[in-house]
Order: sequence, then C-alpha cells, then structure tokens
Amino acid sequence: VTRNLILSFETSCDETSVAVIENGDKILSNIVATQIKSHQRFGGVVPEVASRHHIEQITGCINDALRKADVDYADLDAVAVTYGPGLVGALLIGVTAAKAVAWAHHLPLIPVNHLAGHIYGARLVAPIEFPAMALVVSGGHTELVYMPKENQFEIIGETRDDAAGEAYDKIGRVLGINYPAGKQVDSMAHKGTDTFHFPRAMDNDETFDFSFSGLKSAFINTVHHADQIHETLDKNDLAASFQQAVIDVLADKTVRALKTYPVKQLILAGGVAANRGLRDRLESEINAFPNTKLALVPLSLCGDNAAMIGAAGEMLYRYQTFTDATLNADPGLEF
Ligand code: KG4
Ligand code: ZN
Repeated sequence: VTRNLILSFETSCDETSVAVIENGDKILSNIVATQIKSHQRFGGVVPEVASRHHIEQITGCINDALRKADVDYADLDAVAVTYGPGLVGALLIGVTAAKAVAWAHHLPLIPVNHLAGHIYGARLVAPIEFPAMALVVSGGHTELVYMPKENQFEIIGETRDDAAGEAYDKIGRVLGINYPAGKQVDSMAHKGTDTFHFPRAMDNDETFDFSFSGLKSAFINTVHHADQIHETLDKNDLAASFQQAVIDVLADKTVRALKTYPVKQLILAGGVAANRGLRDRLESEINAFPNTKLALVPLSLCGDNAAMIGAAGEMLYRYQTFTDATLNADPGLEF
C-alpha cells in the first residue's frame, strides 16, 4: 500500500502553520504558531507585524511538523500552500517557503484556496459526500458554497459588507474584550438573554446573501446611547442579543439554501464555526432534512491551520492541479 504524504503551509493571516497529511485525511502533524498576543494591543491584525512573525516562525514550524510526523523530505509526495485570499505579505511567506521546499526536493507544488481549505477540513473527520453545501464563516468571509461535485465550488450567497467574525470582533471591542472576541462573546451569550432584539438584516429577502454592518451599528448605538444617559446595560444580554441575531440569519439562509439545493452533506467551517450557539442551532435545523448529514469541523480545526490545506491539497493532487515557481500570492482570490 503506497501512502501519499503532503507537507502543507498556511500563512494567510495571523497563524503560521505547517502540517503533514497522509492520504488526505490523516493528520500526522499540524503545527500552529499563533501571533494573536502580538496583535491584541492594536485591537486587530496588523499586516506588517503578521508578515514579520511568519518569517520568524516558518522554518521552526517546518522542522517541527516533519519531526512530529516522523517524516523526512524524501518521504514526501507533494507540497501544498495557501496562496489566497488573505493578507498579501503574510501569504507571500508561506508561498515562498513552499516554493523553496518544492524546488529543493523536486516535489510538485499544489496551490490551495484558503476557503477550499476550510471546507475540506471536514474530511479530516469523515469523507465529504456530494452534492454538498458549505457555510463558511470566518473573520474575513461569510459564504454559502454549493458543491455539486468534488472540486466544484459555486458561491450562492455571501456577505455584502462585514464578515460574521469581523462583526463579533468589532462589537467585542465595544464590550471591552480583547481581539479576537468571538469565543468570549459566545460564552457571555450563553449567560444572557435576547432582550434587545437587534435587526436581522436581509433575513426575509430572496437572496442567499448576508449583511452584518447594520447589526453592528445597532449594537454600537445602543451601547453609546446608554453611556450618554449613564445607564448600565447587562453585557451578557447584549452578547446574547447580538449572537441570536447572527445565528438567526445564518441559520435561516442556510435552511433556505438546503431547500433550493438538496445535498447529502452540510459542512460548517471557518473560525466562527466554533460558535456553540451556531453548532447547536444547525444540529436542530438539520433534523428537518433527513437526507442531509451535518458535518461540523472539530473545534481544534475551525481556526486557520495547515492540516485543512493538506486535506484540500490531496484532493487537488488527484486532479494534478500543480503550479510552479511562478506562483504568486493572490490576496483577493475567488473560487
Ligand atoms: O477562520 P479564522 O481563524 O480566520 C479567518 O480566516 O478569518 O476565523 C477567525 C474568526 C475571528 O473573527 C473570531 O472572533 C471568530 O473567528 N471566532 C468566533 C468563535 N471563535 C472564533 N466567533 C464566534 N464564536 C466563536 N466561538
Ligand atoms: Zn480562515
């Protein structure tokens, strides 16, 4: 039995990550060096700081990933790397490192879309069954992606303004929470109730698109107004009200998408897929679709990591989707 071994790279934002993936679905190692602490005092990711950290971390991550997997360069079949979307300077570090390894060891180089990576992270738990629908929710993206077949991606809906995770991070700042705020807002929400009834933008229109900037503004206005009249609002109730509005729209649109596009699997992926309330809600909604299984990416793989890039990379390897030393970072890459 021959085994396929891929060394994969992810540096699109604020995690430097290198992994070794066997046969597309087995994690031999998945090293993630996070830079969150360095960005926290700025309240968000500073691109220049991110690039510098990636440069400092990448070599150590490669060595750790190979050592932990007990694999040598000579054992590898290919190198896979995120080349977009993301921060251009951050992406370039991963792309350059991957090119160097591929060139030095005569390995094919596989270019991976970061969002395809988030979606294919699901196969690290169980095989993806097609047709599939993916709700990808992260700090930079909120998208409903229909996949009629392997390696086919149709964006049927997306955010018109802020991404869901971005909205979490921005209202978190108003609540005095460190970046990234999603996880803490999620746990506060479980201690509060939806007393503010914030708007659910675009919930009842015909598209599968989203909008979160109105919700963000409504939240900020509510807090500022209370400050002006020296009233103290319950932070847990604020968090619960915000979270309920986000989940209602994400769930309603996803349910409508499943009615229009019957699929075998619904995949929830991206950083916001770690949200407890969203996971619970989709677990209950899916009961109305007996022919559709819900695939929840495990909490440990919701955030950015190279394992998911290796999982998507192995699929592309089978399609012989290879590139060469001319590969460049593509910050605005679409499917
Ligand atoms: O996928 P990811 O790690 O990076 C991007 O590609 O953007 O997603 C990060 C985002 C951040 O906005 C963070 O606040 C959010 O995911 N997030 C959450 C939760 N955990 C992380 N949002 C809501 N609830 C959570 N439990
Ligand atoms: Zn991501």
